[in-house]
Amino acid sequence: MFQNLLVHTDGRIQHIIINRESKLNALNKATLAELHTALSDAFNNEKVGGIIITGAGQKAFVAGADISEFASFNSAQGEELARTGHTKVFDLIENANKPVIAAINGFALGGGLELALACHIRIASDNAKMGLPEVSLGLIPGYGGTQRLTKLLGKGKALEMILTADMITADDAHQYGLVNHVTTQDDLLTKAEEIMNRILLRAPLAVAAAISVVNASTQTGVNGFEKEIEEFGKCFDTEDFKEGSAAFLEKRKPIFKAK
Ligand code: COA
Repeated sequence: MFQNLLVHTDGRIQHIIINRESKLNALNKATLAELHTALSDAFNNEKVGGIIITGAGQKAFVAGADISEFASFNSAQGEELARTGHTKVFDLIENANKPVIAAINGFALGGGLELALACHIRIASDNAKMGLPEVSLGLIPGYGGTQRLTKLLGKGKALEMILTADMITADDAHQYGLVNHVTTQDDLLTKAEEIMNRILLRAPLAVAAAISVVNASTQTGVNGFEKEIEEFGKCFDTEDFKEGSAAFLEKRKPIFKAK
């Protein structure tokens, strides 16, 4: 079905593998369009609880947006490229109703790091290298990197990475708080699945509400505290809350239905 992605389901986990290994999984227009479709399908499929995104091969997660496609663009085309990417892929992931984990298995550069930054949790293999090299091309990051990296690392570290265009190692990324865990390449997907499976034990509507409210903490003009109060209240009307609290009181495991 997809030309640039491998998609398979393992239990309630949807794996999306970006599959342009010969181009280090660079994000061309077709790949972004397929990502939009695959992600929308996963978010709308009630059998899917969470998504893990990784890159094909041992070398790259995603080595950036496909430079060959935008080399002759003008400003209007550049703006359109960024705007479409934000809406169709990067914001779609961040605002998803299901958890998305980036399993960073090698180079995550430019749009590749921005893809990982849009995900809710990042895990890197110890060979991974991460950076936003756009200023070395005469560009700036255009898929949310200036905003998401700054919110995650703080202004000083984000500016150092963006202005130098240098790559950092997985260990540095871990120390900066850019990735949650570092594993060997062999253990990367196992670790991602282990974390996802823990999340999948929890009440799906509460997980979705938690993502949305944590996101609100970094959105300008949104009162995150107020949103938390509202979403907290809404949880009380869910069947899953009744099940979760009953299961606790009855000393048994809850069976959640996402209702
Ligand atoms: N866009 C388009 N093609 C890309 C790409 C990108 N972002 N990144 C890698 N490729 C292609 C290369 O052109 C090459 O294709 P070819 O074999 O047809 O010539 C292939 O992927 C392998 O890359 P190569 O550069 O030969 O591998 P390397 O091991 O020597 O270097 C990198 C790896 C990641 C350091 C290097 O590919 C690189 O700097 N890529 C661009 C990173 C970047 O600037 N990204 C931000 C874009 S906004």
